[in-house]
Amino acid sequence: MTSLWLADRVERPLTHDPLESDTADVVVVGAGITGLITAVLLARAGKRVVVIEAYTAGAGATGNTTAKISLLQGTKLSRILGKHGPEIAKQYVQGNLEGQQWLIGHCEANGIPVQHEDAFTYAQSEEGVPSARDELEACQTAGLDAEWVTEADVPFPFHGGARLPNQAQFDPMPLLDNLIDELHARDGRLLEGIRVHQVADDGDALKLHVRTDGASEFDIRAHRCVLATGIPILDRGGFFARLTPHRSYCMAFRVPGNMTRGIYISADSPTRSVRYAPTVNGDRLIVGGAGHLVGRGSNASMSVQELASWAKVHWPGAIQTHYWSAQDYAPVDELPYVGPILPGHDKIYVATGFDKWGMTNGAAAALALSSTMLGGRMDWAAAFASWSPHELSGIPAAMRVNLEVALNLAKGWIAPVARMGNRSPDDGGVVSGPPWHMEACSVIDGVEHRVSPVCPHLGGIVNWNDSDETWECPLHGSRFAPDGTLLEGPATRNLTAAD
Ligand SMILES: Cc1cc2nc3c(=O)[nH]c(=O)nc-3n(C[C@H](O)[C@H](O)[C@H](O)COP(=O)(O)OP(=O)(O)OC[C@H]3O[C@@H](n4cnc5c(N)ncnc54)[C@H](O)[C@@H]3O)c2cc1C
Ligand code: FES
Repeated sequence: MTSLWLADRVERPLTHDPLESDTADVVVVGAGITGLITAVLLARAGKRVVVIEAYTAGAGATGNTTAKISLLQGTKLSRILGKHGPEIAKQYVQGNLEGQQWLIGHCEANGIPVQHEDAFTYAQSEEGVPSARDELEACQTAGLDAEWVTEADVPFPFHGGARLPNQAQFDPMPLLDNLIDELHARDGRLLEGIRVHQVADDGDALKLHVRTDGASEFDIRAHRCVLATGIPILDRGGFFARLTPHRSYCMAFRVPGNMTRGIYISADSPTRSVRYAPTVNGDRLIVGGAGHLVGRGSNASMSVQELASWAKVHWPGAIQTHYWSAQDYAPVDELPYVGPILPGHDKIYVATGFDKWGMTNGAAAALALSSTMLGGRMDWAAAFASWSPHELSGIPAAMRVNLEVALNLAKGWIAPVARMGNRSPDDGGVVSGPPWHMEACSVIDGVEHRVSPVCPHLGGIVNWNDSDETWECPLHGSRFAPDGTLLEGPATRNLTAAD
């Protein structure tokens, strides 16, 4: 399960070494697109920057994305317009435009391939037309030069859609490689295979307590810290309660005949996302979809199979070459959270809530964060603020999300008793046992694993993802391997062994 972007890469040797004793100006946690652009922008301004990454650069959403660099973002803009009105919608577009321009400009200046294509939010049935038309209107209100088209050169059902010319797509990994090179050239450092567990403030500086994948532990000191970790790893600020984690699946195909050009995403369900990707072995088709809330997809493998069948029906002869999945975080009020972790705080910053549009939003977040930390300000920053009046409009949605979380917490602790009985680990992962003695059991390649199903973040009971063969927490999206090893999420520890 390796993405098209991460497959066949030459591995860089990991750097674990603790820093010399002095204190970094900024530690950025997370080496995805957001963290690495932020790090480079700060290093360009003369700051001593260290990036800490739990795995390797791109291991999170950035290396497992579909990497469309588009201002036409499904039905995102009409949802923002509906909640926040035209001024904030324009600021959101402006931020994304500056992020897009920075990204494409940087790629072009550094010889990183980018393909320019028109982007479409389209209706796959008559029922989808009103949503696609709403998106067109929202684009026009926000000043984007979109138009309605009734036809497109595609093999799948197309009932019209909004088209925004000259958007872009790329392979994100050459960008990350280039940013790492620039960071090193500017005396910054990337430490990979190191997970941050805690951040404490001793008055003079922040102390980041880290553990290497070889299990040694030490502290790294910094004056400031940016959590570019997808969902923030610290519970301060309660961002886990303002975000819903969504997992989606992607596949790459070798396709006979002419490749479909353009960047497509459906306005109606089920989501169908389409683009192509040039590779050394010829162009590949990428399709994405089958999304669900993390830990709450009842039958992920069936949705993934449907997505694969959809591709094979519309591109006859398509042969699947890659399969992968990833998750991103939807903010309760539709706008990203970029800024201090708590109102007025000036040491720890977050960047999250990109809702599967983090190529332009991640670059915009990096621009906003670096300018804030260097004493400047972006005109469009209000639409990206981590704490602002737009929070108020998110309160009803946040209450709904947290009611659902509470319900899933209760369900997790009650359901296993009811689920005991006729399922065995051979059927896939199973949580079983009475509440005081639950076990998460799975058999992978003939090896049985038994771990505690209690998520070390805030006590959710994990559910099995039968497509990825992982345990997922339905509360805030932490994920674990069958043997309990933490894969991602706000949790920073593994599932414990079963009693
Ligand atoms: C299936 C899918 C398709 C998508 N397609 C698109 C698209 O076409 N266009 C678009 O614009 N956006 C898309 N997105 C969204 C986009 O990929 C993300 O928003 C973006 O990559 C987020 O980047 P990031 O740097 O903020 O986070 P990430 O890339 O997730 O990076 C976070 C990093 O932090 C590290 N980390 C986490 N915790 C710790 C810790 N405790 N210590 C150290 N390191 C830690 C992780 O290992 C990870 O590498 C898609 C998302 C998904 C899931
Ligand atoms: S991720 Fe929060 S309780 Fe599991």
